[in-house]
Amino acid sequence: MSFVFRDFSAAESRLRADVLAGLAARPKRIPPKYFYDAAGCRLFESICAQPEYALCRTEQALMATHLPAIAAALGRVESIVEPGAGDCSKVRRLLDALRPTRLLLLDIAGAPLAAAAQAVARDYPAVAVSALAMDFLDGLEAAGAWLGAGPHLVYYPGSSIGNFPPAAATALLARFRRLAGAKGRLLIGFDLKKDPQRLHAAYNDAAGVTAAFNLNLLERINRELDADFDLARFRHYAFYHPAEGRVEMHLVSLAEQTVRVAGERFRFALGESVHTEHSCKYRRDEFATLAASAGWRLADDWEHDGFAVQLYT
Ligand code: AVI
Repeated sequence: MSFVFRDFSAAESRLRADVLAGLAARPKRIPPKYFYDAAGCRLFESICAQPEYALCRTEQALMATHLPAIAAALGRVESIVEPGAGDCSKVRRLLDALRPTRLLLLDIAGAPLAAAAQAVARDYPAVAVSALAMDFLDGLEAAGAWLGAGPHLVYYPGSSIGNFPPAAATALLARFRRLAGAKGRLLIGFDLKKDPQRLHAAYNDAAGVTAAFNLNLLERINRELDADFDLARFRHYAFYHPAEGRVEMHLVSLAEQTVRVAGERFRFALGESVHTEHSCKYRRDEFATLAASAGWRLADDWEHDGFAVQLYT
C-alpha cells in the first residue's frame, strides 16, 4: 500500500478574512466552501440521503449503469486527480474499472479526507494514493506537482461545478485543462435543468437537513471566529431562479440585529440576506459550450434522470 497525506488547509485557511469581507459586502455573502467543517460534511451526507435530493443517488445510478461504456471511452488511464474528493466514495467505482497507477485526492476538509483516502489506499494497494488537505482553488497548480507530467484524468463529479457561477466555472475548467496536460481528459458530473418544483424541493427537504446545513455555517463562525449569531434569528431560504438557471441559498435575518464576528460588529436589517450558495443547473449543450470556452472538446456524454456525466478531451 502506498499512501501520503499532507495537510495544507490550516496554513491556507482564509475563513476570517473571507467572512469579514463577505459580511461587509452588499449584498452580504459567505463562500460555500465554508459549509464543510466536520458537522457540515455529515449534514451534506445526510442531504444526499433525503428523498427530495436525488442528485447523488442519480449520479451513482448513472455511473453504475454506464460504467462499462465510460471505461471503454476512457481506455488506459495512468493517473486520476479528484478535486473536492469528499468521502472519496465516488472515485472507487472508477478505480475498479480503470485500475490507474496513481490517484491524487484534494479536499478542504482535512480530517475526513485523511480517513477516507487512507481507506481507499488500503482497499486498492496497487494504486499510489496521495491526499492533500487544501483549498484546491488556491493550490491546484502546486497539487499537480504531486502527479508529475500528464496526461491525467481530472474527475469532478457531484455537480460541484454548479457551485461556481458560469464565469468562475469556465476559469476553473481552464485550470483543469492545464492540470490534465495536453492529452489529458475530464470526466465531469453535473445536475441538469429540470422541473423547477423538483429543484425547489431538493433544497427545501421536509426533514430540514438542508436548512441545518445552511445554518451550520453560522454555528461554525460562532465557534471558530468568536461570533454571536443567534441561529433562531436567521431563516434558511432557497429557491430556483429559472432566468439565471440556478438554485440560490440564503440566510435571511428575521429581525433588525447586530452580530459580533472576530471583534467586528455587523448590522442586519430585517429581511436582509447573506447569500451562501449558487447551485447552477445546465442543459447538456449549454455545459458543452461553457467547457469548450475553457479549451475542452466534448467526447461523449451520458444522462440519467436529470443528471449528466460528460467526457472531455
Ligand atoms: C456540493 N454541491 C453540489 C451541493 C449542491 O447541490 O449544490 C451542495 C448542496 N447545497 C445544498 N444542498 C446540497
